[in-house]
Amino acid sequence: MAVQQYLHLSSGHKMPILGLGTWMAKEEETIVALNEALAMGYRHIDTAPVYLNEQAIGGVLKEWISSGKIKRSELFITTKLPTPGGNNHELVELSLRKSLQDLQLDYIDLYLIHAPFTVVLADDNGGDLKRNADGSVVIDGSTDHIGIWKEMEGLVAKGLAKSIGISNFNIKQIERLRKHCKIQPAVLQIEYHVYLQQPDLIEYCRSANIAITAYSPLGSKGVANLYKMAGVKRDLPDLFDIPAVKEIAKKYNKSAAQILLRWIVDKGISVIPKSTNSKRMHENKDIFDFKLNQQEIEQLNKLDANIRVVDFGYLKGINKHPEFPF
Ligand SMILES: NC(=O)c1ccc[n+]([C@@H]2O[C@H](COP(=O)([O-])OP(=O)(O)OC[C@H]3O[C@@H](n4cnc5c(N)ncnc54)[C@H](OP(=O)(O)O)[C@@H]3O)[C@@H](O)[C@H]2O)c1
Repeated sequence: MAVQQYLHLSSGHKMPILGLGTWMAKEEETIVALNEALAMGYRHIDTAPVYLNEQAIGGVLKEWISSGKIKRSELFITTKLPTPGGNNHELVELSLRKSLQDLQLDYIDLYLIHAPFTVVLADDNGGDLKRNADGSVVIDGSTDHIGIWKEMEGLVAKGLAKSIGISNFNIKQIERLRKHCKIQPAVLQIEYHVYLQQPDLIEYCRSANIAITAYSPLGSKGVANLYKMAGVKRDLPDLFDIPAVKEIAKKYNKSAAQILLRWIVDKGISVIPKSTNSKRMHENKDIFDFKLNQQEIEQLNKLDANIRVVDFGYLKGINKHPEFPF
């Protein structure tokens, strides 16, 4: 059965509150997992060109739609304007058209600016980033959010995107953008979990009618590999091991992951846990048959510790970009 809860966006469209994340899901596993996810009722899928799985997702969607197993209108697909080779007003429409081609879709439900900063692709354009001699990424400091946003608005006018939004922007950046918008951002996608609650940002978005999507809601275990590959030492927190989370999980006979996800949707925030494992995909969507009480919600609220897992530290030198948000 499909997951039935939705957030109503300022664009007039509705987004299923629960979606499937696909970062670091390789092509082959994406194909198997997405088939299973759609059969389980997942209808909201989050991807991006840098995840290198849009083609795999497109193949599965095409099969489901053309065989009549699902209608396009039942799906909510998000993809993003790539940070390398995309964050430039001249590349916005080109980038979405490439994603749509790979996803085998005529339109995207939600197109997000993936990040407020821009990095440069290597000259051979094989997808690798251009690097300085010290291994730091080459940044493009000319990032112009207003110019990019005007092009994003154009995508809506052309029917290529139903809703447009942003990801990893801070309050200052959103405020500046909103002053120049004809179409307000419908969604902000950010890292959000018990250890990173960002109350000011959440409050700001609520007052501006911007829906929030929580990424890395389970603490993004997969990101550890990126830090390792980049030689960055990082101790990532284990959200599943928090005593309060374990205690509440035991009470409801649920897993720690289910408690972490339920706590987020209870706040009216959409959530996109990534899994390619059948059992865990089931688990992550099986969160609507119980409800945390106020005391439990407050217990988890108190865990906020401003611990950010995805601070892009695996892109050495990215914090020097004038639009680095954190
Ligand atoms: N906009 C952005 O900049 C941005 C950044 C990061 C992420 N995202 C999006 O948000 C999605 C989710 O974030 P994320 O992938 O970083 O992290 P996440 O969803 O917090 O965690 C995913 C990890 O947890 C494991 N997992 C999933 N369900 C589980 C469960 N029930 N029990 C135990 N382990 C479980 C997964 O492994 P298995 O696959 O083996 O189950 C995977 O290693 C991404 O996939 C992507 O779509 C966006």
